[in-house]
Amino acid sequence: MQTSRYLDCLMTSTTPLSSPPLHQALRVLADETRLRILALLAEVELSVGEIARCLAMGQSRVSNHLRVLRENGLIGERHEGSFTFCRLDVPEGAFGDMWGALAPSLAAIDQAAADRRRLATVLADRSENRSFFDKIAGDWDLIGADFTRGTGRLEMLSCLVPNTLKIADVGCGTGYLAAALGRRVGHVICVDASEPMLARARENLHASSATMEFRIGVLEQLPLEDDEVDAACAHMVMHHLVDPRLGFAEMARVVRPGGLVVCIDMLPHHEVWMRDAMADTRLGIEPTSLVDDMERAGLTNVRHEMLSENYIVETPSGRTIELPLHLVHGRVPDADRHDDESTAS
Ligand SMILES: C[S@@+](CC[C@H](N)C(=O)[O-])C[C@H]1O[C@@H](n2cnc3c(N)ncnc32)[C@H](O)[C@@H]1O
Repeated sequence: MQTSRYLDCLMTSTTPLSSPPLHQALRVLADETRLRILALLAEVELSVGEIARCLAMGQSRVSNHLRVLRENGLIGERHEGSFTFCRLDVPEGAFGDMWGALAPSLAAIDQAAADRRRLATVLADRSENRSFFDKIAGDWDLIGADFTRGTGRLEMLSCLVPNTLKIADVGCGTGYLAAALGRRVGHVICVDASEPMLARARENLHASSATMEFRIGVLEQLPLEDDEVDAACAHMVMHHLVDPRLGFAEMARVVRPGGLVVCIDMLPHHEVWMRDAMADTRLGIEPTSLVDDMERAGLTNVRHEMLSENYIVETPSGRTIELPLHLVHGRVPDADRHDDESTAS
């Protein structure tokens, strides 16, 4: 038996050691191939075949080394279908100490740079998905529609909101929107004309990690100082107002220069029963009217868009109807900035 094979046998003759003697750790780690494998696994978990490709070596040779590493507790395995992925799992003790000392210098191993180059190709190939997506690009809007039913994409977008923002949720109701805002921004001021609604919002939002303030008041005369917030939003509130322009003027007043005013409401509809049943002053609002009102309130960069989601509501006669929703947003002018952007700053 060759010396190296003999050493391998010695090294694997025992059951895994939680803390092997130093001389055993030395033997296991004194092999350059094993160090190259560990260096790769320190980057990412890999299958045996992938490791073999990275090392440009035969799979059986690689498997022998993996066996030594596995039996000495240096790597762990994860099974996924018919695939087995190896990952670095260096135990504490002699191995941990030696690995800590060795790891920073692994890049200096002769083959390490080539291994890493091959690793990049191997990982790119693992995403077999590229050719899959090449093929289905034309159908993705249909297939990907599955995602639009969830809120994942919206949650992701909301993560992009700077968490230093202070936002007014006007006509906050029971705090549905403020709850979502509170997960992302530092400070939310909830305003509503109804004390019971505000009380419910207080209850619903008591555990929020953001600073939550609750102020009773109307949109036409907001209980906020000039420039007090970075942005203000009104979800399904404007159709309750006799004159939405007053609401926008107030939102523009309380938002600092450069900040945003955003509103979602219903398109005009004919559901007259909503006047009584929902206390709606208007049966929806025309997009042009919302845009005009915002512009007259002095907001710039006013944009309008239809939402893909409808407001689904049951009529008193038990019919379920869908009312299209739209969104408008505008920016409070700021002398110091070029007002041609449409996103929050
Ligand atoms: C349809 S609810 C929407 C609540 C909340 N924005 C949401 O999306 O769940 C309308 C809310 O606006 C409030 N509201 C109606 N007119 C208002 C006004 N002039 N000023 C402030 N709040 C008002 C109501 O009290 C109610 O809570």
